[in-house]
Amino acid sequence: MSQIKMFDTTLRDGEQSPGVNLNKKEKLEIAKQLERLGMDRMEAGFPASSQGDFEAVEAIAKTIKNTSVTGLARTTKADVDTAWKALKYAEEPRLHLFLATSPIHMTYKLKQTPEQVIDNAVSMVRYAREKFPQVEWSAEDASRSDLNFLAQIIEKVIDAGATVINLPDTVGYTTPAEYGEMFRFIRETVPNIDQVELSCHCHNDLGMAVANSITAVENGATQVEGTINGIGERAGNASLEEVAVALHVRSDHYPYSTSLKMDETKRTSDLIAKLTGMYVQANKAVVGRNAFQHEAGIHQDGVLKNKETYEIMTPEMVGVTANTLFLGKHSGRHAFKDRVSELGVDLSDDKLKEAFVKFKQLTDHKKEVTDDDLYTILMEIQTDT
Ligand code: KIV
Ligand code: ZN
Repeated sequence: MSQIKMFDTTLRDGEQSPGVNLNKKEKLEIAKQLERLGMDRMEAGFPASSQGDFEAVEAIAKTIKNTSVTGLARTTKADVDTAWKALKYAEEPRLHLFLATSPIHMTYKLKQTPEQVIDNAVSMVRYAREKFPQVEWSAEDASRSDLNFLAQIIEKVIDAGATVINLPDTVGYTTPAEYGEMFRFIRETVPNIDQVELSCHCHNDLGMAVANSITAVENGATQVEGTINGIGERAGNASLEEVAVALHVRSDHYPYSTSLKMDETKRTSDLIAKLTGMYVQANKAVVGRNAFQHEAGIHQDGVLKNKETYEIMTPEMVGVTANTLFLGKHSGRHAFKDRVSELGVDLSDDKLKEAFVKFKQLTDHKKEVTDDDLYTILMEIQTDT
């Protein structure tokens, strides 16, 4: 089983979600929870982007000891110097440098020739390595770049001292097969590729970020970048908790593990949702409110007899402790009876039947029947003569 490094960018790419703005205290709180979760690396921010972000990255670099802290920088000396000022206190200061390599970005955004892009990338990696022991270099928009050009620039930035090469699917355009093929090609073509770690970074515009990340791992990526709850620019980034749980639950299929302490997952997700204001959709895999809830009577009956009938993983595994049988209009007698006895109420068969009828009547008006609703029904039943 080989260990895949987990690189969290909730505090940088995640904070780029429209409408999200975290202050220093909030970023620090999230950073501490990411450390508790067992994250290998965290991108604390983009120090040159604002004074506030600089201070947050500096505070995180000074506080976090068990996760390598990194900061983003454009390909300029000023960005690298500012990042160093914020990150020099870290246990293992790490820089994330990026430069676009796709024809559309080089022509219209950078207005540079491919040769100029290579020269700039190489000289800035060399400059960054004078300070930082670890420098990740990202080929922005790698998935829309020419593969031979990509191989050429990667070989040169590795010679200049890059320690991690990241190939982002910046616009969430690639498919699993295509993205996997890019990693396989780079692994097989770049002669010095074994000197570095290879990283994937996927956006979710077509809903394929997690599948793309896992396919990259199957084709040689040793680091996965993403965010908790999948927040991020536009439709977001690969959701790291989904990647970690998928590798774990399907370890019969994937020979990879991660360092994440899975039972810290839900707590991390809740904290990030609360502080960013980006609430998690109810049916989101792993951390959504409904991810472990069963409503249909047939499913509830199955789960009460043997959880594995409808659960491929336990809620406890990811730190979910709430009751998993949802009481609503599709619920059956078995789940109802189970919940009533969990509430510590002992009813005769006749009273239970009566209570069940009232419960079903209530579901015509209410989507979810809560414990408070049940207590009201049970009190009515017990006081009926
Ligand atoms: O998606 C992307 O390309 C990025 C880069 C800064 C690495 O986030
Ligand atoms: Zn990104």
